[in-house]
Amino acid sequence: MSTQFDFVKEIAKYGLENDQDNLLKSLGELIEHSRKTKKMNMAIQLQSILKESMKEQRYSGLVKVDSNSYFDREDERTVREFILDKVSSDYSFNNIICDGQVTEDLSFLIKEHRLANQLNALNLPVSNKVLFHGPSGCGKTLAAYILAGELNKLIYVVNLGAIVSSKLGETSKNIAKIFKKAAQEECIIFFDEFDSLGKIRDYDQDHGEMKRVVNTILQLIDQLPQDTLVIAATNQLAMLDDALLRRFDMILKLDLPDKNQSLELIERTLRNSQFQFSLPKVKKIVPECAGLSYYSIQKTLVNAMKKSYVNSEARDRLLDMETWKRLITQEKAALGR
Ligand SMILES: Nc1ncnc2c1ncn2[C@@H]1O[C@H](COP(=O)(O)OP(=O)(O)OP(=O)(O)O)[C@@H](O)[C@H]1O
Ligand SMILES: [Mg+2]
Repeated sequence: MSTQFDFVKEIAKYGLENDQDNLLKSLGELIEHSRKTKKMNMAIQLQSILKESMKEQRYSGLVKVDSNSYFDREDERTVREFILDKVSSDYSFNNIICDGQVTEDLSFLIKEHRLANQLNALNLPVSNKVLFHGPSGCGKTLAAYILAGELNKLIYVVNLGAIVSSKLGETSKNIAKIFKKAAQEECIIFFDEFDSLGKIRDYDQDHGEMKRVVNTILQLIDQLPQDTLVIAATNQLAMLDDALLRRFDMILKLDLPDKNQSLELIERTLRNSQFQFSLPKVKKIVPECAGLSYYSIQKTLVNAMKKSYVNSEARDRLLDMETWKRLITQEKAALGR
Protein backbone atom coordinates (compact mmCIF):
# COMPACT_ATOMS: atom_id res chain seq x y z
CA MET A 1 0.00 0.00 0.00
CA SER A 2 1.27 3.51 -0.84
CA THR A 3 2.25 5.73 2.04
CA GLN A 4 1.78 9.46 2.39
CA PHE A 5 5.44 9.87 1.52
CA ASP A 6 4.91 8.06 -1.84
CA PHE A 7 2.11 10.45 -2.76
CA VAL A 8 4.15 13.52 -1.81
CA LYS A 9 7.04 12.30 -3.97
CA GLU A 10 4.71 11.75 -6.92
CA ILE A 11 3.08 15.16 -6.46
CA ALA A 12 6.47 16.89 -6.32
CA LYS A 13 7.60 15.07 -9.45
CA TYR A 14 4.46 15.77 -11.50
CA GLY A 15 4.37 19.36 -10.27
CA LEU A 16 7.93 20.01 -11.40
CA GLU A 17 7.27 18.27 -14.71
CA ASN A 18 4.15 20.40 -15.24
CA ASP A 19 2.17 17.21 -15.70
CA GLN A 20 -1.18 18.46 -14.50
CA ASP A 21 -3.20 15.32 -15.27
CA ASN A 22 -1.02 13.04 -13.19
CA LEU A 23 -0.60 15.73 -10.53
CA LEU A 24 -4.38 15.93 -10.07
CA LYS A 25 -4.64 12.16 -10.02
CA SER A 26 -2.01 11.83 -7.29
CA LEU A 27 -3.51 14.67 -5.30
CA GLY A 28 -6.91 12.98 -5.48
CA GLU A 29 -5.33 9.75 -4.25
CA LEU A 30 -3.61 11.56 -1.40
CA ILE A 31 -6.92 13.14 -0.33
CA GLU A 32 -8.53 9.70 -0.36
CA HIS A 33 -5.60 8.23 1.53
CA SER A 34 -5.81 11.02 4.16
CA ARG A 35 -9.50 10.30 4.67
CA LYS A 36 -8.91 6.58 5.05
CA THR A 37 -6.12 7.13 7.55
CA LYS A 38 -8.35 9.57 9.48
CA LYS A 39 -6.22 12.64 8.74
CA MET A 40 -9.37 14.65 8.21
CA ASN A 41 -7.78 18.09 8.51
CA MET A 42 -5.28 17.29 5.85
CA ALA A 43 -8.01 15.91 3.57
CA ILE A 44 -10.20 18.97 4.07
CA GLN A 45 -7.40 21.44 3.47
CA LEU A 46 -6.14 19.67 0.35
CA GLN A 47 -9.67 19.44 -1.01
CA SER A 48 -10.11 23.16 -0.45
CA ILE A 49 -6.80 24.01 -2.18
CA LEU A 50 -7.88 21.84 -5.09
CA LYS A 51 -11.30 23.51 -5.34
CA GLU A 52 -9.82 27.03 -5.16
CA SER A 53 -7.25 26.26 -7.80
CA MET A 54 -9.85 24.78 -10.17
CA LYS A 55 -11.87 27.94 -9.75
CA GLU A 56 -8.85 30.16 -10.43
CA GLN A 57 -8.17 28.20 -13.60
CA ARG A 58 -11.72 28.63 -14.76
CA TYR A 59 -11.31 32.36 -14.28
CA SER A 60 -7.94 32.72 -15.93
CA GLY A 61 -7.98 34.26 -19.36
CA LEU A 62 -9.89 37.33 -20.47
CA VAL A 63 -13.25 38.00 -18.96
CA LYS A 64 -15.83 40.32 -20.44
CA VAL A 65 -16.88 43.14 -18.10
CA ASP A 66 -20.55 42.68 -17.15
CA SER A 67 -20.51 38.95 -17.91
CA ASN A 68 -21.54 36.47 -15.21
CA SER A 69 -17.99 35.31 -14.61
CA TYR A 70 -16.89 38.91 -14.22
CA PHE A 71 -19.30 39.30 -11.34
CA ASP A 72 -18.33 35.94 -9.86
CA ARG A 73 -14.76 37.13 -9.86
CA GLU A 74 -15.69 40.37 -8.17
CA ASP A 75 -17.48 38.39 -5.47
CA GLU A 76 -14.43 36.20 -4.95
CA ARG A 77 -12.31 39.28 -4.41
CA THR A 78 -14.73 40.79 -1.90
CA VAL A 79 -14.99 37.54 -0.03
CA ARG A 80 -11.25 37.20 0.18
CA GLU A 81 -10.88 40.77 1.40
CA PHE A 82 -13.27 40.22 4.30
CA ILE A 83 -12.33 36.74 5.38
CA LEU A 84 -9.63 36.84 8.05
CA ASP A 85 -8.99 33.15 8.07
CA LYS A 86 -10.15 30.06 6.27
CA VAL A 87 -8.91 27.10 8.21
CA SER A 88 -9.64 23.65 9.43
CA SER A 89 -9.18 23.05 13.12
CA ASP A 90 -7.58 20.44 15.33
CA TYR A 91 -9.45 21.50 18.46
CA SER A 92 -11.73 19.01 20.08
CA PHE A 93 -14.40 19.12 22.70
CA ASN A 94 -12.09 18.31 25.59
CA ASN A 95 -10.03 21.45 24.95
CA ILE A 96 -12.67 23.59 26.62
CA ILE A 97 -13.67 23.84 30.27
CA CYS A 98 -17.14 25.23 30.90
CA ASP A 99 -20.14 24.74 33.12
CA GLY A 100 -22.41 21.73 32.91
CA GLN A 101 -25.23 23.28 30.88
CA VAL A 102 -22.91 24.77 28.26
CA THR A 103 -21.03 21.47 27.98
CA GLU A 104 -24.31 19.66 27.47
CA ASP A 105 -25.57 22.13 24.85
CA LEU A 106 -22.31 22.11 22.91
CA SER A 107 -22.05 18.35 22.85
CA PHE A 108 -25.69 18.04 21.77
CA LEU A 109 -25.06 20.49 18.93
CA ILE A 110 -22.16 18.39 17.70
CA LYS A 111 -24.20 15.16 17.85
CA GLU A 112 -27.11 16.87 16.11
CA HIS A 113 -24.92 17.98 13.20
CA ARG A 114 -23.44 14.53 12.80
CA LEU A 115 -26.99 13.22 12.38
CA ALA A 116 -28.13 16.16 10.21
CA ASN A 117 -29.21 14.01 7.25
CA GLN A 118 -31.24 11.61 9.36
CA LEU A 119 -32.87 14.47 11.28
CA ASN A 120 -33.74 16.32 8.08
CA ALA A 121 -35.27 13.15 6.65
CA LEU A 122 -37.60 13.20 9.66
CA ASN A 123 -38.36 16.88 8.99
CA LEU A 124 -36.52 17.85 12.15
CA PRO A 125 -34.36 20.95 11.70
CA VAL A 126 -30.84 21.06 13.13
CA SER A 127 -29.77 24.12 15.11
CA ASN A 128 -27.41 26.01 12.86
CA LYS A 129 -27.33 29.51 14.31
CA VAL A 130 -25.29 29.79 17.46
CA LEU A 131 -24.27 32.83 19.47
CA PHE A 132 -21.51 32.77 22.07
CA HIS A 133 -21.28 35.63 24.51
CA GLY A 134 -19.47 36.42 27.73
CA PRO A 135 -16.36 38.18 28.97
CA SER A 136 -13.11 38.31 27.04
CA GLY A 137 -10.81 35.27 27.28
CA CYS A 138 -13.45 32.72 28.30
CA GLY A 139 -13.55 30.59 25.18
CA LYS A 140 -15.90 32.11 22.57
CA THR A 141 -13.40 31.90 19.74
CA LEU A 142 -12.12 28.60 21.09
CA ALA A 143 -15.65 27.14 21.07
CA ALA A 144 -16.11 28.12 17.42
CA TYR A 145 -12.88 26.34 16.46
CA ILE A 146 -13.92 23.32 18.51
CA LEU A 147 -17.15 23.06 16.52
CA ALA A 148 -15.13 23.23 13.30
CA GLY A 149 -12.74 20.57 14.57
CA GLU A 150 -15.47 18.25 15.80
CA LEU A 151 -17.55 18.59 12.64
CA ASN A 152 -14.54 18.43 10.30
CA LYS A 153 -15.55 21.60 8.53
CA LEU A 154 -13.62 24.57 7.29
CA ILE A 155 -14.28 27.74 9.19
CA TYR A 156 -14.53 31.16 7.56
CA VAL A 157 -13.60 33.83 10.09
CA VAL A 158 -15.33 36.97 8.89
CA ASN A 159 -13.80 40.38 9.49
CA LEU A 160 -17.06 42.07 10.33
CA GLY A 161 -15.25 45.19 11.58
CA ALA A 162 -13.71 45.67 8.14
CA ILE A 163 -17.01 45.03 6.35
CA VAL A 164 -18.78 47.55 8.50
CA SER A 165 -16.18 50.22 7.92
CA SER A 166 -16.05 49.52 4.19
CA LYS A 167 -17.91 51.78 1.78
CA LEU A 168 -21.09 53.20 3.21
CA GLY A 169 -24.07 51.37 1.82
CA GLU A 170 -22.12 48.24 0.85
CA THR A 171 -22.22 46.39 4.14
CA SER A 172 -25.35 44.39 3.33
CA LYS A 173 -24.09 43.43 -0.11
CA ASN A 174 -20.77 42.22 1.26
CA ILE A 175 -22.32 40.18 4.05
CA ALA A 176 -24.63 38.55 1.49
CA LYS A 177 -21.64 37.57 -0.65
CA ILE A 178 -19.99 35.88 2.30
CA PHE A 179 -23.10 33.88 3.16
CA LYS A 180 -23.38 32.77 -0.47
CA LYS A 181 -19.78 31.66 -0.61
CA ALA A 182 -19.89 29.75 2.67
CA ALA A 183 -23.13 28.02 1.66
CA GLN A 184 -21.52 26.88 -1.61
CA GLU A 185 -18.63 25.37 0.28
CA GLU A 186 -20.60 23.98 3.24
CA CYS A 187 -18.35 25.89 5.61
CA ILE A 188 -18.91 27.34 9.03
CA ILE A 189 -19.31 31.11 8.95
CA PHE A 190 -17.85 32.68 12.06
CA PHE A 191 -18.65 36.29 12.86
CA ASP A 192 -16.18 37.02 15.62
CA GLU A 193 -16.83 40.37 17.35
CA PHE A 194 -20.39 40.36 16.11
CA ASP A 195 -21.01 43.58 18.04
CA SER A 196 -18.99 45.44 15.37
CA LEU A 197 -22.36 45.78 13.70
CA GLY A 198 -23.11 48.36 16.37
CA LYS A 199 -20.36 50.57 14.92
CA ILE A 200 -22.70 51.41 12.07
CA ARG A 201 -24.75 53.45 14.53
CA ASP A 202 -21.81 55.82 15.01
CA TYR A 203 -21.82 57.12 11.47
CA ASP A 204 -25.37 56.38 10.50
CA GLN A 205 -27.42 59.35 11.63
CA ASP A 206 -30.82 58.38 10.23
CA HIS A 207 -30.35 54.67 11.11
CA GLY A 208 -31.09 53.74 7.50
CA GLU A 209 -27.89 51.77 7.05
CA MET A 210 -28.25 49.97 10.38
CA LYS A 211 -31.78 48.87 9.51
CA ARG A 212 -30.71 47.71 6.07
CA VAL A 213 -27.86 45.66 7.45
CA VAL A 214 -29.91 44.08 10.23
CA ASN A 215 -32.68 43.25 7.75
CA THR A 216 -30.22 41.68 5.34
CA ILE A 217 -28.71 39.55 8.06
CA LEU A 218 -32.18 38.53 9.26
CA GLN A 219 -33.10 37.45 5.74
CA LEU A 220 -29.84 35.61 5.18
CA ILE A 221 -30.18 33.82 8.49
CA ASP A 222 -33.80 32.89 7.75
CA GLN A 223 -32.80 31.37 4.41
CA LEU A 224 -29.74 29.60 5.72
CA PRO A 225 -29.30 26.10 4.27
CA GLN A 226 -29.34 23.38 6.94
CA ASP A 227 -25.78 22.30 6.29
CA THR A 228 -24.32 25.77 6.86
CA LEU A 229 -23.54 26.64 10.44
CA VAL A 230 -23.39 30.29 11.46
CA ILE A 231 -21.57 31.13 14.66
CA ALA A 232 -21.41 34.62 16.10
CA ALA A 233 -19.44 35.76 19.13
CA THR A 234 -19.62 38.93 21.18
CA ASN A 235 -18.63 40.24 24.57
CA GLN A 236 -21.23 42.98 24.30
CA LEU A 237 -24.56 41.25 24.05
CA ALA A 238 -26.42 44.47 24.86
CA MET A 239 -25.15 46.02 21.62
CA LEU A 240 -27.16 43.56 19.55
CA ASP A 241 -30.57 44.17 18.14
CA ASP A 242 -33.35 42.06 19.74
CA ALA A 243 -34.70 40.93 16.37
CA LEU A 244 -31.25 39.60 15.58
CA LEU A 245 -30.90 37.82 18.91
CA ARG A 246 -34.21 36.02 18.42
CA ARG A 247 -32.92 34.38 15.22
CA PHE A 248 -30.28 32.32 17.01
CA ASP A 249 -31.23 28.74 17.89
CA MET A 250 -28.75 28.66 20.70
CA ILE A 251 -27.33 31.48 22.82
CA LEU A 252 -24.57 30.26 25.10
CA LYS A 253 -22.77 32.24 27.76
CA LEU A 254 -19.13 31.37 28.32
CA ASP A 255 -18.46 32.86 31.70
CA LEU A 256 -15.47 33.49 33.97
CA PRO A 257 -14.21 30.30 35.62
CA ASP A 258 -15.26 29.44 39.17
CA LYS A 259 -12.77 27.92 41.64
CA ASN A 260 -13.13 24.36 40.36
CA GLN A 261 -12.82 25.39 36.74
CA SER A 262 -9.75 27.54 37.50
CA LEU A 263 -8.15 24.59 39.26
CA GLU A 264 -8.94 22.29 36.36
CA LEU A 265 -7.36 24.71 33.88
CA ILE A 266 -4.26 25.12 36.04
CA GLU A 267 -3.86 21.39 36.61
CA ARG A 268 -4.26 20.63 32.91
CA THR A 269 -1.74 23.30 31.94
CA LEU A 270 0.76 22.07 34.51
CA ARG A 271 0.29 18.43 33.59
CA ASN A 272 0.94 19.25 29.95
CA SER A 273 4.16 21.00 30.94
CA GLN A 274 7.21 19.27 32.28
CA PHE A 275 7.12 21.28 35.50
CA GLN A 276 6.98 19.90 38.99
CA PHE A 277 4.39 21.42 41.26
CA SER A 278 2.77 20.77 44.59
CA LEU A 279 -0.99 20.36 44.29
CA PRO A 280 -1.76 21.64 47.82
CA LYS A 281 0.26 24.81 47.12
CA VAL A 282 -1.48 25.25 43.76
CA LYS A 283 -4.86 24.89 45.46
CA LYS A 284 -3.94 27.70 47.85
CA ILE A 285 -3.32 30.06 44.94
CA VAL A 286 -6.58 29.30 43.13
CA PRO A 287 -8.71 31.78 45.16
CA GLU A 288 -6.32 34.57 44.10
CA CYS A 289 -7.40 33.97 40.51
CA ALA A 290 -11.01 34.96 41.20
CA GLY A 291 -12.26 37.43 38.61
CA LEU A 292 -9.64 36.49 36.01
CA SER A 293 -10.53 34.83 32.72
CA TYR A 294 -9.23 31.45 31.56
CA TYR A 295 -6.93 33.29 29.21
CA SER A 296 -5.48 35.53 31.96
CA ILE A 297 -4.97 32.65 34.37
CA GLN A 298 -3.19 30.62 31.72
CA LYS A 299 -1.06 33.61 30.78
CA THR A 300 0.12 34.23 34.37
CA LEU A 301 0.89 30.54 34.81
CA VAL A 302 2.85 30.19 31.58
CA ASN A 303 4.82 33.34 32.37
CA ALA A 304 5.51 32.06 35.88
CA MET A 305 6.87 28.79 34.49
CA LYS A 306 9.06 30.71 32.07
CA LYS A 307 10.39 33.02 34.77
CA SER A 308 11.01 30.10 37.15
CA TYR A 309 13.02 28.30 34.51
CA VAL A 310 15.04 31.28 33.31
CA ASN A 311 15.83 32.47 36.85
CA SER A 312 16.88 29.05 38.08
CA GLU A 313 20.63 28.56 37.88
CA ALA A 314 20.22 24.80 37.84
CA ARG A 315 17.56 25.01 35.11
CA ASP A 316 15.03 23.40 37.44
CA ARG A 317 11.56 22.83 36.17
CA LEU A 318 10.05 23.83 39.45
CA LEU A 319 7.19 26.32 39.56
CA ASP A 320 8.05 29.27 41.79
CA MET A 321 4.83 30.09 43.64
CA GLU A 322 5.87 33.59 44.76
CA THR A 323 6.58 34.63 41.17
CA TRP A 324 3.25 33.25 40.03
CA LYS A 325 1.37 35.04 42.83
CA ARG A 326 3.05 38.32 41.88
CA LEU A 327 2.07 37.87 38.23
CA ILE A 328 -1.54 37.21 39.24
CA THR A 329 -1.62 40.41 41.31
CA GLN A 330 -0.12 42.37 38.42
CA GLU A 331 -2.64 40.93 35.95
CA LYS A 332 -5.53 41.84 38.23
CA ALA A 333 -4.23 45.36 38.67
CA ALA A 334 -3.76 45.77 34.90
CA LEU A 335 -7.36 44.73 34.33
CA GLY A 336 -8.68 46.80 37.24
CA ARG A 337 -10.01 43.73 39.11
N1 LIG B 1 -13.32 27.89 28.65
C1 LIG B 1 -12.04 27.69 28.40
N2 LIG B 1 -11.45 26.50 28.62
C2 LIG B 1 -10.14 26.31 28.38
N3 LIG B 1 -9.32 27.27 27.90
C3 LIG B 1 -9.82 28.47 27.64
C4 LIG B 1 -11.20 28.76 27.88
N4 LIG B 1 -11.44 30.03 27.54
C5 LIG B 1 -10.28 30.54 27.11
N5 LIG B 1 -9.30 29.63 27.16
C6 LIG B 1 -7.89 29.85 26.78
O1 LIG B 1 -7.74 31.23 26.44
C7 LIG B 1 -7.47 31.40 25.05
C8 LIG B 1 -8.26 32.59 24.52
O2 LIG B 1 -9.65 32.32 24.56
P1 LIG B 1 -10.66 32.83 23.44
O3 LIG B 1 -9.89 33.47 22.33
O4 LIG B 1 -11.56 31.73 23.05
O5 LIG B 1 -11.45 33.94 24.23
P2 LIG B 1 -12.69 34.83 23.74
O6 LIG B 1 -13.84 34.52 24.66
O7 LIG B 1 -12.91 34.63 22.30
O8 LIG B 1 -12.16 36.31 24.08
P3 LIG B 1 -12.40 37.70 23.30
O9 LIG B 1 -13.74 38.21 23.73
O10 LIG B 1 -11.30 38.58 23.83
O11 LIG B 1 -12.30 37.44 21.84
C9 LIG B 1 -7.89 30.07 24.42
O12 LIG B 1 -7.17 29.83 23.23
C10 LIG B 1 -7.56 29.07 25.52
O13 LIG B 1 -6.16 28.81 25.54
MG1 LIG C 1 -12.56 35.85 20.63
